[in-house]
Amino acid sequence: MDSNEIRSRFLKFFEKRGHKIIPSSSLIPGDPTVLFTTAGMQQFKPYYTRPQDTDKDFGSRNITTVQKCIRTVDIDEVGDATHLTFFEMLGNFSFGGYGRREAITYAYDFIVKELGLEISYVTFYKGEGVVPRDEESKNIWSILGVKDIREDGKDVFWGPTGDSGPCGPTTEIYCKNADGQDVEIWNIVFNEYFCDGSREKLDKNEAKLKKLDVLGIDTGMGLERLVATVQKKKNVYETDLFKKPKDVLDSFVLPFLSGLDNDIEYIRSSRIIFDHLRSVLMMVSDGIIPSNKDKGYVLRRLIRRVVVYIQKYYKKNPSDVVFPLIGFFVYFYNNIYPEVGNKTRQHIILEEIQKFLETLSKGLKEFEKGIDPFILFSTYGFPIELTLELAKEKGKKINLEDFNKKMTEHQKLSRTSSAGMFKGGLAGTGEMETKYHTATHLLLASLRNVLKADIVQKGSNITAERMRFDFNWPEKVSVEKLKEIEDLVNVKIAEAIPVEMKEMPKEEAKKVVTTLSFDLSKYGDVVKVYKIGDFSAEFCGGPHVKNTKELGVFKIQKEEAVAQGIRRIKAVLI
Ligand code: SER
Repeated sequence: MDSNEIRSRFLKFFEKRGHKIIPSSSLIPGDPTVLFTTAGMQQFKPYYTRPQDTDKDFGSRNITTVQKCIRTVDIDEVGDATHLTFFEMLGNFSFGGYGRREAITYAYDFIVKELGLEISYVTFYKGEGVVPRDEESKNIWSILGVKDIREDGKDVFWGPTGDSGPCGPTTEIYCKNADGQDVEIWNIVFNEYFCDGSREKLDKNEAKLKKLDVLGIDTGMGLERLVATVQKKKNVYETDLFKKPKDVLDSFVLPFLSGLDNDIEYIRSSRIIFDHLRSVLMMVSDGIIPSNKDKGYVLRRLIRRVVVYIQKYYKKNPSDVVFPLIGFFVYFYNNIYPEVGNKTRQHIILEEIQKFLETLSKGLKEFEKGIDPFILFSTYGFPIELTLELAKEKGKKINLEDFNKKMTEHQKLSRTSSAGMFKGGLAGTGEMETKYHTATHLLLASLRNVLKADIVQKGSNITAERMRFDFNWPEKVSVEKLKEIEDLVNVKIAEAIPVEMKEMPKEEAKKVVTTLSFDLSKYGDVVKVYKIGDFSAEFCGGPHVKNTKELGVFKIQKEEAVAQGIRRIKAVLI
C-alpha cells in the first residue's frame, strides 16, 4: 500500500463515519504565539471553546484532515530513523459530535481492520491534580480486546500549544516497526480543559486548567511513520515517500557509491538533505521567505544545512543537486498540495543557495583569520556546525559554550524585537524607527570609512519598514563598495557596541563629532551627542537603541542618484 493510498483511505474512512474533509491549513498558523503549524488541531484551536461555530463554518461537528506540519525542536536529530522537520498528520476532530468511545473505536478499526496492523500496546492517563485517572479509556480498550494497556503520566497529557489553549489527557497507540521496536503511531487527545498559560507554565504549576463545556476530540497520526509501519520498512526514508529522491541523490555519487551506501555519515547527510529540502519547499510554497528571524530564519537555516551537506559529498554545484530533488517533490505532492507548483517560490530556494555560496567563500576567509564563531554566524551566516567541522579539520578549538551563550542572547533579542514589532504595529511605539535611527548613524560612519571621504548627511527618511539616507557623493557607489559598507555596519552591530548619549556645550561638541551634517545655528547652546564607541559621534536628538546588537541585520536594498552630487541608499533591518 503506497502513501497516497494510505492518505486517501484515512480520509474516506472518516468521511464514511460522518466527518467532513477539510484541506490542510498553511504552515503559517493563525495563532501569533505559535511559530509554525505543528499539529492538525492548530487550525481548529478556537473551536474547542466555541464548538457550535463549527456548524456554520464547516457544516459539521466532525472533521478530518491531512495537515502539513513543521516541528523544529528536534532538528539536530534529523538523519536518524524517525525524526523529520516536515511531516503530514492524519487527524480526526470532533467538537461535541462524539466522545471517547467513538474516538477510540474508530482508531482501533482503522489500524486493525482497515490496515491490518497489530497493536502492540496502548496508554492512558494516570491522572494528576484536577485531572482524574482516565478509567473510561482504559475500559474501552479492554472491551476492544487490547491486552497491553499501560498507565502513563505527563507524556499522555497533551497541550496547550502557544500561550494558552485547549488541552487534555490522551491515549496513544503503539505498533511494532520492522526492527521489532514499539513506535507511537496515533495520539488521541481528549480536550477537556482550557489552560490559561503555556505548557511550560502548566508544568511549573503556574497556569490553571478550567473544564471546557464540551469534550473535544483531537487525534493525530504521523503519516510518514504510519507508512513505514504499513510498508514494514525500518525507517521513513525507505518508504515510497523518499525512495525516488534517494535514487536521484545516489545517482550523483554513483561512481563512488560502493562503500558510501554503508557509510553512516553519508546515509545521515542524505537523509538530512531529503528531509530539509522537502520542508524548505513546503515553507516557501506557503509564502515564507528566508530572513534572519523567526520562520524565515528556520527556512534559511534549513537551506544552508542542505548546502553544507551537499558540498560534503557531492562534487557539484549544490543548485544542480537541489534542482532535480525539488522537481521530484513538486511532482509527488502537486496533487495533494497544489501550492508546491509555484515556480517563483521555488526559485527563492535557488537564489538563497546562491547567496549562501557567496557568503560561504567570504566566511571561509574570515574563519582562517580566526574570527569569533558568533560573528561568523551573525555576520557571515556561517552555521555553527560548519565552523565546528572546519575547526576539527584544522585542529582548532571552538568555545561552544560562549557561542551558545551569545546565541541565546541573540534569540532573546530577536524574540523581543518581533514581539515589539507586533506591539508596535498595534500601538505605534516606534521601536523599529528607533532602530533605523541608530542604523543611520552606523551607515554614515561606514560610508566615511569605506569611501574615505568627508561624507555628510543630506537627508534622511525613516519608517517602521525601511530607511532612506541621502549623502554627498559624485558618482554611483560600486556594488563591491556597497557590500563593504553593508558588511561594516553589520560588523558594528555584531560588536554589540553600547550607544551613549552625552549633553555638552555646542562648542565642545563640535570637537568630538565625526561629522557636521547640520546647520548648527538651529541648535541650542547645549546639544546632545550620540556616540557609538569610537566609530561614530553625531549631534542628534535621538531616540536610539541602547546597544547596536539590537539592530539585527542591516541590508542595503538600493543605491541611486537623487540630485547632482547626491546619492540615496535604501536599506532595511531584518
Ligand atoms: N495534537 C495532538 C498531537 O499533535 C494530536 O493531534 O499529537
